[in-house]
Amino acid sequence: MEAEVAIMKIETKAVHAGDRKVDPNRPGAFIPVTTPVHTAVSFVYESTAQLDRVLGREEEGYCYSRYDNPTNSALEELMTTLEGGAGALACSSGMMALHTALLAALADRKKTVLAASALYGATFSLLTKVLEPLGVQAEFVDICDLEAVKSKIDSLKPGCVLMETMSNPLLRVGQMDRIAEMSRAAGAALLVDNTFATPLLVRPLELGANLVVHSSTKFLSGHGDALGGILVADSQHVDAIRSLCRIFGPVLGPFESYLTMRGIKTFALRMERQCANACRVASWLASHPRIQRVHYLADPEHPDAAAIRRLLPQGLYGAIVSFEIKDARREDVFRFMDRLNVVVRGTSLGDVHSLLLYPVISSHRDIAPKQRERMGIHDGFVRLCTGIEAAEDIIADLEQALAL
Ligand SMILES: Cc1ncc(COP(=O)(O)O)c(C=O)c1O
Repeated sequence: MEAEVAIMKIETKAVHAGDRKVDPNRPGAFIPVTTPVHTAVSFVYESTAQLDRVLGREEEGYCYSRYDNPTNSALEELMTTLEGGAGALACSSGMMALHTALLAALADRKKTVLAASALYGATFSLLTKVLEPLGVQAEFVDICDLEAVKSKIDSLKPGCVLMETMSNPLLRVGQMDRIAEMSRAAGAALLVDNTFATPLLVRPLELGANLVVHSSTKFLSGHGDALGGILVADSQHVDAIRSLCRIFGPVLGPFESYLTMRGIKTFALRMERQCANACRVASWLASHPRIQRVHYLADPEHPDAAAIRRLLPQGLYGAIVSFEIKDARREDVFRFMDRLNVVVRGTSLGDVHSLLLYPVISSHRDIAPKQRERMGIHDGFVRLCTGIEAAEDIIADLEQALAL
């Protein structure tokens, strides 16, 4: 089955990979169709000699759930298959996956990280507030300016280059394959946060990245009920992530692992629908008299249109649409948000329900207003992630809420 899964399309892999493992110790026993929740913290064997072999890693098996756990292993195999990696680690959150990935990327290299200047806020804080005080140097660059990236890579010779497939909330897209080439030439590991794209749209390891992380809390789980993170590594980094896991235990709990795996089985279906909804909502917003500007990847005028055409499959441009309400002050945006009935006012994304976030009070709350303005995040700026509802209902909800 494993060899067959490897050549299947991603929608099929999402449904089958990782499940129905045959227990080598119980040949002929029944096989559950889906992976059960293994709550056990430790595992025993019929003989101490076998336990010794498993603990010594001479024989495959489980001994302690901080090292690995059968439910997590199933999810890790699934994500390894979807991203085309050599191995994966299921972590307790997206931030934990990022932290572990950075440690693995820097393990044998220079302790400098060259990161995209537009990053998820907590990732920026992880670099500047946690890792810098420990001796890591963090430098930032406009990841869409290839010349600037090259010059920084040449001058800094970083151990790791860190980027997101699409930036949040302005949706800029860097040329990942070219950045991978430059990173490889300089001996740096390329680490990509692929949360917004999912492996349906982009598979960074196939484009030359070394490590991929997801906040699986978002599109992969998709139901707003399981916090989690997934780290997928190439063959160069897979041992490092497993030994880091044994030492500091960033692991996901087995219940969340089960929910995440269940969510992933439908992620491709949901993502297709969510992308189609985003496309319809974006073109409706673009012609609405109260909307100043729409940021969406299908826009032919998008500043990164060439990279988008090259790197993303046609018609799948993500489910995030950011837009600015004309001349809206903070209180106008509050009024607009309070009128929403279908679209949920929240701080996440990627769920079956549409979610609208106001960066000024959430992701960009701690940034000084002037700097926020310079970044292009004005008081009237909101970020919508479309869910799987009927597009007509999302549009009707936005329409009545905009009719202030
Ligand atoms: C792009 C991105 N990366 C990482 C994270 C962190 O994920 P988590 O909240 O699961 O720790 C988020 C959370 O919103 C995110 O949007």
